[in-house]
Amino acid sequence: MDEPSWDQKELTVGQLAARSGVAVSALHFYERQNLITSRRTSGNQRRYRRDTLRRVALIRVAQRVGIPLADISAALAELPNGRTPTRQDWARLSERWRAELDERIHRLQQLRDEFAECIGCGCLTIDRCLLANPYDRLSEHGAGPRRLLES
Ligand code: FES
Repeated sequence: MDEPSWDQKELTVGQLAARSGVAVSALHFYERQNLITSRRTSGNQRRYRRDTLRRVALIRVAQRVGIPLADISAALAELPNGRTPTRQDWARLSERWRAELDERIHRLQQLRDEFAECIGCGCLTIDRCLLANPYDRLSEHGAGPRRLLES
């Protein structure tokens, strides 16, 4: 493993891959998408500032919960470019995402908790549908699982 030492300010792509757990090919992809940046040495090798590890961590976690790359890119674009972001910079980024993340959490909780109930999707296959969506009346409100979409 090519793990960087703790006091290294700049990392090679191999070190960034080793410490972040992200494949070199994925790091190159992130760089092509302007999610991360590097400088070139005189020998044309990439060097990444150490705070790139934090950017990569955010990209990985955000992707895991299904946030589109375009949204991740827009959020990262708000971080300062020429210096290591401070805690306040990261806090601003988190705050920007709060409403969207709250909405995602709500939808995930619905998936976890409410699928044993009638969701108002028009299937009328659950015994509770008779009470919750008789004659598929919720279809008058629009398409989709109305009880989920309206909660
Ligand atoms: S679960 Fe589909 S209409 Fe009730």
